[in-house]
Amino acid sequence: MSALMELVTLVPCCFFFIALIKFLYDYLWIPLRIQHMLNSQGIKGPPYRFIHGNNKEIAKMRQEASIKPMALTHDIFPKVQPQIYSWINKYGRNYLFWNGVRAELVISEPELPTIYLSKLLGKGLVTVEGEKWAKQRKLANYAFHGESLKNMTPAVIASVETMLEKWKGQEGKEIEVFHEFRLLTSEVISRTAFGSSYLEGEKVFAMLNKLSIIMSRNLYNTRIPLINKLWKPADMLESEELAKEIQYCVMKMVKKREDRVVNGEADSFGNDFLGLLVNAYHDSDKNNKLSMEDLVDECKTFYFAGQDTVNALLAWTVLLLAIHGDWQDKARREVIGIFGNQNPQPEGIAKLKTMTMIINETLRLYGPSNGMLRRVGREVQMEKVVLPANIDILIANVALHHDPQLWGEDVHLFKPDRFAEGIAKATNYNTGAFFPFGLGPRTCVGMTFATTETKIVLSMILQRYAITLSPAYVHSPIPIISLKPQHVIQVMLKSLHSDA
Ligand code: HEM
Repeated sequence: MSALMELVTLVPCCFFFIALIKFLYDYLWIPLRIQHMLNSQGIKGPPYRFIHGNNKEIAKMRQEASIKPMALTHDIFPKVQPQIYSWINKYGRNYLFWNGVRAELVISEPELPTIYLSKLLGKGLVTVEGEKWAKQRKLANYAFHGESLKNMTPAVIASVETMLEKWKGQEGKEIEVFHEFRLLTSEVISRTAFGSSYLEGEKVFAMLNKLSIIMSRNLYNTRIPLINKLWKPADMLESEELAKEIQYCVMKMVKKREDRVVNGEADSFGNDFLGLLVNAYHDSDKNNKLSMEDLVDECKTFYFAGQDTVNALLAWTVLLLAIHGDWQDKARREVIGIFGNQNPQPEGIAKLKTMTMIINETLRLYGPSNGMLRRVGREVQMEKVVLPANIDILIANVALHHDPQLWGEDVHLFKPDRFAEGIAKATNYNTGAFFPFGLGPRTCVGMTFATTETKIVLSMILQRYAITLSPAYVHSPIPIISLKPQHVIQVMLKSLHSDA
């Protein structure tokens, strides 16, 4: 009996002891080993703190930066990424910090992004791995190649016309452009990639938007082992619920396509992005076949990547043009010179040189992407540094885009002129100095689509209106997945034609 009692107490004790060892191994030994390994190679950073890493400090810095008022300057790096700004100053251009128990190596030395982004596979499209990524990338490339893009122009123009129709009669009143462009870019991606009306996608966008706010709020929240399994915070429950609903909506869109073919109303699933995905879902060759889960994931990525980023780029460009009236006039002269008062056409869009410079300068100062993350799967040698397995690399593009050593003392000024002779010249042939759309095999598949859309929208606005900034505007860019205005961007429109 006593032997049995001993066994009854001993077994849980052993389990507890093993769990404790494993816990200390994961949460103390591994982080300290990684920290030591990188410190000894000259890479410093804020010290690892048990379980939380540096998350508490980061949350505090971000909170302080978000409420601190700022002047209308383009020196936004300390505001947008206060922790990166302060730790680069303290520990150097490449440093190590702790997102909970995960080590993140921040890279902001201009020679390194090209090497790291080309060599490390990491997370892609934006989250899938390896073979799956290659398959999905192929589809995305096909959907967004040159000829398909040309066919998208009328859909973009139609969406802008709807927006401009609403603007009629608004002259002299405030217009909140971030919101206006959210509706516009949602409609554009719905029409072009998914062939559906904005109304159909509206629910998906509203949910994705909510999801992005929750994600960004919890970016530096520590996941406490075990407790996370037993108790889910409200944000986690809400995001799970949202993910389910998004899945349901996308599946309904797919079903609609399938039904149309089954009922004989259409002879194919369509040539837009959704059509290609549904085709791949039905592919009998298992090398090309997509699962329903992958299809839904892809739709989510494209809805989000295709809308959120262009929304931000358009809003920041209009803000900059409202502030810098001289560049607004130059851009308008170019647009009128090429298109007159006609709608933009693909051949003319390619000739918009001043506008390209303005967009590049906006992408430098207010680029939607706040960094590129790669996961190191196994120990690897990168230049002079040996990187341990299971760490993340964060390429800090905001730091590079705002670096006075790369761009000169006028780094914080809006000077589209620097791109007059192209990106290579502007960056002194340093690819790692400017990469708003990423670098290496995972560069943005939607780059040409995004810039074409932006040029069409800006051209059509400039043809009709002069834009000035409302005195009510409060400058406060913050990162909510992409770089967004914390408040709103109010501008005033002055019609250039009597019939507008
Ligand atoms: C101004 C607009 C945009 C910006 C600044 C932007 C930026 C980026 C960046 C920096 C990456 C690389 C991420 C990484 O390396 O981790 C990326 C990837 C990607 N972007 Fe964009 N993007 C924009 C618009 C779009 C649009 C319009 C679409 C789709 C229609 C799109 C779809 C994607 C996809 C699918 C990827 C993942 C590519 C891969 O992993 O192979 N993006 N984007």
